[in-house]
Amino acid sequence: MAERESLLPTRPSVQRLGRDRLLSPVKDFRIDALGAGAGPGGVRALAAALGLAMPSSIFSDVPQAQPVVVFKLTADFREDPDPRKVNLGVGAYRTDEGQPWVLPVVRKVELQLAKNDSLNHEYLPILGLPEFRTNASHIALGEDSPAIKEKRMGSVQALGGTGALRIGAEFLRRWYNGTNNASTPVYVSAPTWENHNGVFGAAGFVDIRTYRYWDAAKRGLDLKGLLQDMENAPEFSIFVLHACAHNPTGTDPTPEQWEKIVSVMKRRFLFPFFDSAYQGFSSGDLDKDAWAVRYFVNEGFELFCAQSFSKNFGLYNERVGNLIVVGKDADNVVRVLSQMEKIVRVLWSNPPAQGARIVATTLSNPELFTEWKENVKTMADRILLMRTELRSRLEALGTPGTWNHITEQIGMFSFTGLTTKQVEYLVNEKHIYLLPSGRINMCGLTTKNLDYVATSIHEAVTKVQ
Ligand SMILES: Cc1ncc(COP(=O)(O)O)c(C=O)c1O
Repeated sequence: MAERESLLPTRPSVQRLGRDRLLSPVKDFRIDALGAGAGPGGVRALAAALGLAMPSSIFSDVPQAQPVVVFKLTADFREDPDPRKVNLGVGAYRTDEGQPWVLPVVRKVELQLAKNDSLNHEYLPILGLPEFRTNASHIALGEDSPAIKEKRMGSVQALGGTGALRIGAEFLRRWYNGTNNASTPVYVSAPTWENHNGVFGAAGFVDIRTYRYWDAAKRGLDLKGLLQDMENAPEFSIFVLHACAHNPTGTDPTPEQWEKIVSVMKRRFLFPFFDSAYQGFSSGDLDKDAWAVRYFVNEGFELFCAQSFSKNFGLYNERVGNLIVVGKDADNVVRVLSQMEKIVRVLWSNPPAQGARIVATTLSNPELFTEWKENVKTMADRILLMRTELRSRLEALGTPGTWNHITEQIGMFSFTGLTTKQVEYLVNEKHIYLLPSGRINMCGLTTKNLDYVATSIHEAVTKVQ
């Protein structure tokens, strides 16, 4: 503990700093003699009594942080009065009317829960709602998983996928590859969901690297680069892997490519930390989308898997996530979970119940489960339709370049290959909002705005290089 604390930069007490600054305009006065007291409040009273300008705030040295790009984009979109505007930036599902969708099965379960008088608002256990943890883990690992049969898996309810990643990262920094080994390299794909860097950095890791993933020229996976980077990574490095529907490229390894990845990771003792935020969104089929995670478990890896139910249940603001831990045996998992309890206790103490109850109720009831799978398929199918429609429009317009990647990519996002300048043109001239990387959320497309978006992309590609 002492060692960990010593890593923190030493800084003067904020209160003392504030008081020094407050004292500066009146530094020749003996404050106590004037009876104003020595604390900041007393100084403020004194300054006011003497008619001096209010001293500066104790926060005056706090720098303004940059806004989070994707949230800023949505704020800009909201403020844009142009009726043609389209938001392709947001990371959430939208209906063909451009509206958020409360899944019908979720609404049904919410009503059931509201009427259930046996429920209350007592604290949940630190590790979360047991029936949520079990059911959630089972849809990732599969009912016949050897890790479940051999009782060598456990899980922790978390605040969304982000929370699951955060506690997983915190645990690894504290206990993996030595105690408090903040210098273990953590590899994230290039590119990746931008928060991966932030989350592992916040957990204390200081050596966050990228592994090659996206081949811009061929608009596909750079398998050779990826495997080389794994070969060259120090043993026991941590690799963050997208379980399916890679964000932002929409490009996943095939089963044959995963086999090659597994072979290097095993040989080099690399730790797989899966991020599963889109189960069901790749293929519309939950089992197919969990293939990679299950394959690693079958191959005998010890691993973490951060699950998010934000997208596939549409429960974004309920913050429903689950961190799955697969170990070599039950005893290891029990000890890991005991440490997870310590981590959760100081982060959020215990998790919220509503979203976890919705997921647990749905997954544990065969009829609701079937209905949920249909709801997921509705979302996945709409995305597939928008992919086909956009590609066919761009091809019909004769837009320079190839557009097959739009339908070959999977999940919510497409990495269009548009340049930063072309993106700027779309945002500034066409009121079409997308990320500077050229990533678009297919759900932002609707049957009503497809023509406008396609002709605008055509214009951007032909006019702006
Ligand atoms: C790849 C990836 N991981 C994790 C998350 C986090 O999801 P949550 O909102 O559940 O924290 C997201 C959300 O956009 C994501 O795209």
